[in-house]
Amino acid sequence: MVSRIKKRLAPVRGLIGLCVLLSACSSSKPATAPPAAPAPVLWGDMKPVVSVKELMKYMLDPASDFIFDAVKIETTRKGTVEKVPKTDEDWEKIRVGAVTLAEGVYLLKVPRPFAPAGDENNSTGPDASELSPKQIKAKLDADPVLWNAKIEALRNVGLEVLDIVKTKKTAELWDASYNLDQACESCHLQYWYPGDPALLQKVDRQLDELFGKSQPPGSRPRKP
Ligand code: HEC
Repeated sequence: MVSRIKKRLAPVRGLIGLCVLLSACSSSKPATAPPAAPAPVLWGDMKPVVSVKELMKYMLDPASDFIFDAVKIETTRKGTVEKVPKTDEDWEKIRVGAVTLAEGVYLLKVPRPFAPAGDENNSTGPDASELSPKQIKAKLDADPVLWNAKIEALRNVGLEVLDIVKTKKTAELWDASYNLDQACESCHLQYWYPGDPALLQKVDRQLDELFGKSQPPGSRPRKP
């Protein structure tokens, strides 16, 4: 051990000697930060086609089903059946979902309307449970960093699933499916139906149905 440390120090000592010779190598000055990397440049312009709402409905939501549907407990007349991926084709579908989510979620960085023109969401009246597109936009403008954090959180789950596809560790897919749900909901509770207790309860109930009641919030539930 000692000899290994000594060996490692040897070249350092040589370097100190070099620094004494070359006065430019001053240690009194604080190390300056490396120059900032140039801003990433896209290969071209990005123009949205649909609203956030439609991007959810026609891209991110169906993509997530490739993962949600891959592992689940189905109750049939014969009893409960555990559905897990078995064939290469099954895993390939999961990969389609993961790639679409990981890449597609970045489309939420392209400014676009939140809902189609004239669609105000369920934002008025006594049963209003959703924010209006204008209210959602105001929230984003007030804290774009948070919006991007939610995007990255979903992307991370996409990357997690891609890793699982490589190793085919089915057990980990249950966790990932739960994490996916959390990533979607944590953005929705922030921007779409914030603080709606009824909906929050519904989400919790659904999670309970999926993973059993025993899990404290924030824990990573195991296969039921
Ligand atoms: C970065 C934030 C964010 C993430 C992450 C996110 N969503 Fe959304 N989602 C929204 C917002 C905002 C709306 C509401 C848009 C509106 O109606 O104006 C929405 C709406 C929806 C809708 C309603 C569409 C409709 O037709 O009414 C669905 C379904 C949906 N999201 C599914 C998902 C799923 C599934 C995931 C995860 C795989 C997900 N979302 C992740 C922000 C997000």
